[in-house]
Amino acid sequence: MQKDVLSNEVMDKDNTDNPVTGNQAPGNYGTGKQATGNQVSAKDGTGSHIMDKNGTQPAAPDVFEPVLIAFVCNWCTYTAADLAGTSRLVYPDNVRLVRVMCTGMVDTQYVIKAFLEGADAVLVSGCHPGDCHYLNGNYKARRRIKLLKQILPRFGIATQRLRLTWIGASDGIQFARTMTEFAAEIKKMGPCQTRLQQV
Ligand code: FES
Repeated sequence: MQKDVLSNEVMDKDNTDNPVTGNQAPGNYGTGKQATGNQVSAKDGTGSHIMDKNGTQPAAPDVFEPVLIAFVCNWCTYTAADLAGTSRLVYPDNVRLVRVMCTGMVDTQYVIKAFLEGADAVLVSGCHPGDCHYLNGNYKARRRIKLLKQILPRFGIATQRLRLTWIGASDGIQFARTMTEFAAEIKKMGPCQTRLQQV
């Protein structure tokens, strides 16, 4: 009798708790990976798109996928991107990283060339002000980006397509969030005119 009672209790617990524990357990595992990725992508509403692309549902043929070029500093943002990858955070896979030693070496020509060769958006990202390993490289980058934002409209490129951010080495989540938000914003804007004018 005791066994039956015990087994019933166990069965009852299983029957009632399993859905809870069953949901909680994967959820808990997912908090480190999936949930973080969902948080990142849910803010922009691009999560479903990413999941579709990485999952079984193929993208519709007429869906615009922006090409993002990101010039990232070796010491900070590239490390953050690496951290995002090892932490399995989700961010758009159409981001092309260009690792540079410092944002101060990102010449204005690099950015213009990226746009002329098909980029829909360009991101320059490096160490926070005061943290540059070459003292003032990021200040130089900030001045160049400001100048570029004045020039780009003459090429028919909206200034929103160029962004400068500071993402530290330990900010993997910030990196994934920034990329996801930027990609979603550019997706709403549509293809860059320079890309459309390419023959
Ligand atoms: S070393 Fe990172 S911006 Fe200069």
